[in-house]
Amino acid sequence: MDIQVVKVNNDEKEILQNLLELYCYEWSQYNKLDVNQFGSYEFAVLDCWTEKNHYPFFIKVDGKLAGFVLIDKDFAVRKDCDFAMSEFFVMHKYRTAGVGKYAAETIFDMLHGKWEIMCHPKNIISIYFWNKIIDEYTNGKFELIKSCQEVVYQEGTFADFFFFET
Ligand SMILES: CC(C)(COP(=O)(O)OP(=O)(O)OC[C@H]1O[C@@H](n2cnc3c(N)ncnc32)[C@H](O)[C@@H]1OP(=O)(O)O)[C@@H](O)C(=O)NCCC(=O)NCCS
Repeated sequence: MDIQVVKVNNDEKEILQNLLELYCYEWSQYNKLDVNQFGSYEFAVLDCWTEKNHYPFFIKVDGKLAGFVLIDKDFAVRKDCDFAMSEFFVMHKYRTAGVGKYAAETIFDMLHGKWEIMCHPKNIISIYFWNKIIDEYTNGKFELIKSCQEVVYQEGTFADFFFFET
C-alpha cells in the first residue's frame, strides 16, 4: 500500500469541498448538524484553507483519494500552540489499515511545534486513535484534558483535548 500525504493546491478546492461533505455527514452523528435546502452541509470556511496559516492535505492510497487533513492556527484553548488539527478524515474503505497513523505521523514530522487536537468525546474511535498515535509519537509525553469546560460542541457536549509537542 502506497500512502501519500500531499498538499491541496488552489485548483483542487472543489475536490476538497466534495470530501468535506462526506466528512460533515460522518460528523452529523455527533454534532447533529442538518443539511441545507440544497442537501449540502456547506462547509463555510473553505476559502480560508488556501490562506496563510492553513495547511490542507489530501491523503492518497495507491494514487486514489483516501481522505484529507486540515490544520490551522485557530486554537480553542491554548493560544501559545503552533498547530491545531482542525479536521482529519480517512474514508471508510481505507480505515483500520494504518492509513491514519501514517498520515498523522507524516504531518507531525513535517510541522514541528506545540499541537492542540480537539475531539468529540462521543467519537470514541477518534479518542482511541489520537491516544495511540500521540502516545507512540511522543513516548507518552502528552496531556489529555477530558470534558474541557471552556469549549462546548453545538449540541452541548464539552470537548476533549490533546496537547503535545512534535
Ligand atoms: C479516526 C480515523 C482517522 C482513524 O483512521 P484509521 O486509518 O482507520 O486509523 P489507523 O488504522 O491508522 O489506526 C491507528 C490506531 O487507531 C486506533 N483505532 C483506529 N480505528 C479504530 C477502531 N475502529 N476501533 C478501535 N481503535 C481504533 C487503534 O489504536 C489503531 O492502532 P492498531 O491498528 O495498532 O490497533 C478514522 O476512523 C476516521 O476518519 N474517522 C472519521 C473522522 C474522525 O473521527 N476524525 C477524527 C476527528 S478528531
